Amino acid sequence: MASFEIGAYLETQRATVDSHLDEFLPPEEEYPEVIHRAMRYSVFAGGKRIRPILALAASEAVGGDFERAVRLACALELIHTYSLIHDDLPAMDDDDHRRGRLTCHKVFGEGIAILAGNGLMAHAFQLLTEIPGGVDFSATKIEVLNGLCRAIGTQRGVIAGQVVDLVTQGKPFSAKELEYIHSSKTGALIEASVFCSAILAGAEDGYLRCLRTFGLKVGLAFQIIDDILDMEGSREELGKTPGKDMVEQKATYPAFYGVQKSREAADSLVAEAIAAIECLGDKGVALRELARFISIRRF
Ligand code: IPE
Ligand code: IPE
Ligand code: MG
Ligand code: MG
Ligand code: MG
Repeated sequence: MASFEIGAYLETQRATVDSHLDEFLPPEEEYPEVIHRAMRYSVFAGGKRIRPILALAASEAVGGDFERAVRLACALELIHTYSLIHDDLPAMDDDDHRRGRLTCHKVFGEGIAILAGNGLMAHAFQLLTEIPGGVDFSATKIEVLNGLCRAIGTQRGVIAGQVVDLVTQGKPFSAKELEYIHSSKTGALIEASVFCSAILAGAEDGYLRCLRTFGLKVGLAFQIIDDILDMEGSREELGKTPGKDMVEQKATYPAFYGVQKSREAADSLVAEAIAAIECLGDKGVALRELARFISIRRF
């Protein structure tokens, strides 16, 4: 590929992901309607679709099958949206806006928002088990399921990160705790987006290793930039209320290191991520540009 236009690429991939999400999610008219309306309300509120786009790019880089990869990609977005719905609840970050709309609980009430989050997670796993492939492919599917369960769970997964995020709120925290929070609450799912997609594609060990390193580093950088945008971004650009981290005394990189050092840390991580996938050569172009986008993004 001679030139790569990241803006156009993101736009095309986002449209692909969105049309498949629409296909895979239960229709709003299906009983009990309210839960399907709430699930679709949050999924289709907007969102960059970074995790599914990373998964599709990783699959393509190692020659994976699109029909399989796109199911994993959509499952990742459903899991991510579940984590956002719960993150915004009054018992957690208590946010009123998300993706440019009122949060799920503001529109549907807390009970339905909790269930919509759970519903999205259940549907994600249903989708994964339905990835096409014969009996010979079952072991690979189980490996992918295992990777995703680990990425969500309480041992360095999203839930673990959210737990430490909650319990450190308003308290002093260490550099080690900060890295744990960020690489778990956000890094783990981004790492899994790349790594599980490569497993699904049947990538060989060398590629699995370097893609995992790439995902890990990009995932941590992603949350550092999210922290910086909370300080520097606007409601219009972000679609969510900025400035909350400081008010809520959250453990963030800028709070610990200052904005300048945090930005340098994110830039170094992205550079390391790009170096890790040198083995992919030209096939790594989309992943490289996605990593760069993650460090310069304004939303
Ligand atoms: C926001 O994620 C929450 C984090 C894990 C940092 P995104 O910035 O990917 O949010 P959307 O999906 O684009 O709305
Ligand atoms: C959220 O981190 C991480 C997860 C949703 C798992 P934040 O709380 O910083 O995300 P935003 O800023 O609300 O999107
Ligand atoms: Mg949070
Ligand atoms: Mg939040
Ligand atoms: Mg944030």
